[in-house]
Amino acid sequence: MAGGSAELVEHTVARLQGKTALVTGAASGIGLAIAARFATEGAQVVFTDITGDACTRACHEHGGALALELDVALDEAWGDAIPQVMDRFGKLDVLVNNAGIALLGDVETLSVADFDRTMAVDLRGVFLGCKYAVQAMKPARQGSIINMSSISGIRAQAELVAYNAAKAGVALMTKSVALHCGQQGYGIRCNSIHPGLIRTPILDKLLAQSEDPDALLAGFIATHPIGHMGEPADVAALAVYLASDEARFVTGSAMSVDGGAAM
Ligand SMILES: NC(=O)c1ccc[n+]([C@@H]2O[C@H](COP(=O)([O-])OP(=O)(O)OC[C@H]3O[C@@H](n4cnc5c(N)ncnc54)[C@H](O)[C@@H]3O)[C@@H](O)[C@H]2O)c1
Repeated sequence: MAGGSAELVEHTVARLQGKTALVTGAASGIGLAIAARFATEGAQVVFTDITGDACTRACHEHGGALALELDVALDEAWGDAIPQVMDRFGKLDVLVNNAGIALLGDVETLSVADFDRTMAVDLRGVFLGCKYAVQAMKPARQGSIINMSSISGIRAQAELVAYNAAKAGVALMTKSVALHCGQQGYGIRCNSIHPGLIRTPILDKLLAQSEDPDALLAGFIATHPIGHMGEPADVAALAVYLASDEARFVTGSAMSVDGGAAM
């Protein structure tokens, strides 16, 4: 019995106590679940999103420490946000590059403008986040960068040509950043998360672009051996692990949380 209660105590200790974390796209879906879970795990969480009002509301409702409007595709927006975090908290321990968009279209139907927009948010946004986070974290010789890729960064779908390209890019860029930080001795870890189908507003927006949303959704779910979609909390649980010191030996990894979809 004594062993059992010791175990219980261990599991109730906040796993991110004392850490400062910034989450992009924190007003909705997976980003919101990660930011809220980080706060319950004791982190000082900076909620950021392109939608300022929704982000401020989410921050207040879920125990955040600071809300900032941040369009991840803009270099100057990062240049504005990161100094505010450093001024306020003196450090950045964790960055979650979560913000993303998914625009439906195959190689014939997707417009060049939609391709460019996908790249700007889903790939350039992650690059900028990594660039600014490495600068902020390296003096402390520690930090964890978590990049949100997707099952779509591993397996192709005809109707997601730009999203596939961006998310696959995130996977290898993550390894490049991890390698660089290792070579430089910065102590900064960088890993990617690859969720399968998760029930969030991005999915509704994607389905709304289809002529047959029911068939598209059924087709997506059919590729998940577990037989159903996941929830944002499933992804947040993995993000807590990667953000925490429990993952101190984990860098350059591509971790799936996908009901077996990558098999
Ligand atoms: N839902 C899924 O099935 C699924 C699966 C795999 C990966 N993902 C990835 O997870 C991440 C989160 O997606 P979600 O499902 O929670 O979607 P969501 O639409 O619920 O949330 C995305 C958030 O990102 C914000 N955002 C969009 N463009 C932005 C920009 N330029 N700058 C800052 N914020 C911006 C939105 O305002 C929104 O709050 C994305 O990177 C997505 O590609 C989602």
